[in-house]
Amino acid sequence: MDYQVIIPAAGSGKRMGAGRNKLFIEVTGKPVILHTLDVFASDLYCKKIILAVQPNDENHFKDILAGHPGNGKIDFVYGGHERQHSVYNGLKAASGEIILVHDGARPFIRQHTISRLVQSAHDNGAAIAAVPVKDTIKRADQNQVVETVDRLGLWQIQTPQAFRLPILIRAHEQAIEQDYLGTDEASLVEKVGLPVMIIESDYDNIKLTTPEDLYFAEAILAKRKNLG
Ligand code: CTP
Ligand code: MG
Repeated sequence: MDYQVIIPAAGSGKRMGAGRNKLFIEVTGKPVILHTLDVFASDLYCKKIILAVQPNDENHFKDILAGHPGNGKIDFVYGGHERQHSVYNGLKAASGEIILVHDGARPFIRQHTISRLVQSAHDNGAAIAAVPVKDTIKRADQNQVVETVDRLGLWQIQTPQAFRLPILIRAHEQAIEQDYLGTDEASLVEKVGLPVMIIESDYDNIKLTTPEDLYFAEAILAKRKNLG
């Protein structure tokens, strides 16, 4: 089933501390953003990639994307102050039945997960990638443990997040009216009161956030190369 994807890429990568947008950092000799775009570029069901970037980064993105197989289906929009604003700007350029939102900083998303998300969004309205929480989770008050939270039913949420387009538009419009800033798109849909389904993804689908994550990234790529 066809879909379009919004890729927020307009952050500044403060926690990575590289002094520039972390999506330009090279992992195994290739910028992070190109790793992220590879799977969407080669997916024939992906009809458009909407890339939200900061105006200062636009030329650099265009330079590194020249010659990339996804280049022909990329539309650029400007990002906003918060990630949610960047996604909303992307949403204005979106059309079709199903829209995905996927962080530019998650370069290891698999085709298999994307197609399951698209199908579930078609069937249920909204579907998000996630993995079961594996650590013991405790709630604390000023560093003193209050309780151990039952892990059963707890998920660590990732992107992509997939939606029927009118649902995501409505969720964003309501968030604007209510001045609500969520940490993901699904939380906006939850606020509208609509169901959101979880699609179990894999632990490789990490977001590159702090410098250690670059070591994990190299390791994930080495593992995939060895597996062919
Ligand atoms: N993003 C965006 N617009 C913003 C902020 C973030 O498009 N105003 C994008 C980032 O480029 C990234 C994704 O949202 O692909 C997830 O955000 P995050 O990991 O927080 O990246 P940064 O905001 O760049 O990093 P930091 O929070 O450490 O500054
Ligand atoms: Mg951020």
